[in-house]
Amino acid sequence: MRDPRGFATKFYTEQGNYDIVGNNLPVFFIRDAIKFPDMVHAFKPSPIYNKQDPNRVFDFFSHIPEGTHMLTRVYSDFGIPANYRQMDGSSVHAFKWVNEAGEVSYVKYTWKTNQGVKNLTADEAAKVQAQDFQHATVDLYDNIKKGNFPSWDLFVQILKPEDLDKFDFNPLDVTKVWPESIAPLTKVGKMTLNRVPDNFFEEVEQSAFAPANLVPGIEPSEDKLLQGRLFSYTDTQRHRIGGNFQQLPINAPKAAVNTYNQDGAFSNRHKTSDVNYQPSVAADALTDNAQYKYSVSKFTNVTTVQQKITKPNDFKQAGDFYRSLSETDKASLIKNLSGDLAAVKNKDVARKMVGYFYLADADYGTRLAKALNFSREEVEALFRK
Ligand code: HEM
Repeated sequence: MRDPRGFATKFYTEQGNYDIVGNNLPVFFIRDAIKFPDMVHAFKPSPIYNKQDPNRVFDFFSHIPEGTHMLTRVYSDFGIPANYRQMDGSSVHAFKWVNEAGEVSYVKYTWKTNQGVKNLTADEAAKVQAQDFQHATVDLYDNIKKGNFPSWDLFVQILKPEDLDKFDFNPLDVTKVWPESIAPLTKVGKMTLNRVPDNFFEEVEQSAFAPANLVPGIEPSEDKLLQGRLFSYTDTQRHRIGGNFQQLPINAPKAAVNTYNQDGAFSNRHKTSDVNYQPSVAADALTDNAQYKYSVSKFTNVTTVQQKITKPNDFKQAGDFYRSLSETDKASLIKNLSGDLAAVKNKDVARKMVGYFYLADADYGTRLAKALNFSREEVEALFRK
């Protein structure tokens, strides 16, 4: 499948679980959570004829210029990683690190594979898939099983709050990367996958990752997509797995859970105290608050608002990425993208898309227009309307 691959990690820390629920690609299709259901509907099979269809996908994206960067990455060969071992991972969003003094740093995470990045061209993928449609899972399982443990180095990029407004894009916009020229990568750790699950259902199917699983000192940023993700995952998991899914061994923190809440469906906490609230005259219930360190992060130049962001700069980084590709990779991208755009029946929808890619990079747009037999005038006319 040409699609982003999930890259979710759970840290069982001494202060509870911290999840980084990311993807292999470092940006996303939309920047506002409110459009996520619409985006998913456009990607999913038609409600009438039950088939995924580029007509539906590009109808949606012809109205969403911010998707240009992510679509360029997805339609490049990075859209089909050769397997799960040979791809990088990214938090995509920025988070906030808050130190003891209450000082805030914005941070993005990148996982870099130590196996080397490897992607498949569409033709290679067709051959591999024809042999075994589960090849990526088999590759990961077999390599770990035989002791060839894959590993990733974890890097962070850091920006200070006072620097957020210094760029020609908004660093909390999820359709943007932070170029290393403005935020260098610093290595902070390494992850090695050194065992396979004993029981796939218990340890994978029932596992629940959520961007809201945070520990003190780490907070969500004001990124508008992340704000929506904060509640969506736990909502889904209560429905998908059931109430108290956090008590399942794979999801439960290794650290003690100090809460006076109890019961509910599937609860197995076996509380015996009459005090299921806090504060209380009960000695431990009075002292608990003192142990929890609330972080107080102040921000002055960013706010959580419903209106659109300033500095959308929808096309520049898409162009930067296009120009960073080798000629072979560019040719693959043009072939993959023009192949799907050619299937779009409403030619003005396809032309609008070509216009967006043109705005990213003139060579990129020109080559797509040529592959699709569109004239420059036809494309330009749509942008004059
Ligand atoms: C507003 C935007 C988004 C919403 C509302 C959303 C919502 C969801 C939901 C409801 C699930 C299923 C959770 C479960 O059943 O356990 C899910 C899974 C997932 N999402 Fe998102 N998502 C969004 C954007 C993203 C982005 C930007 C990324 C990557 C940075 C991402 C990465 C993932 C991953 C990796 C999973 C699978 C987690 C697992 O392995 O269990 N999502 N998403």
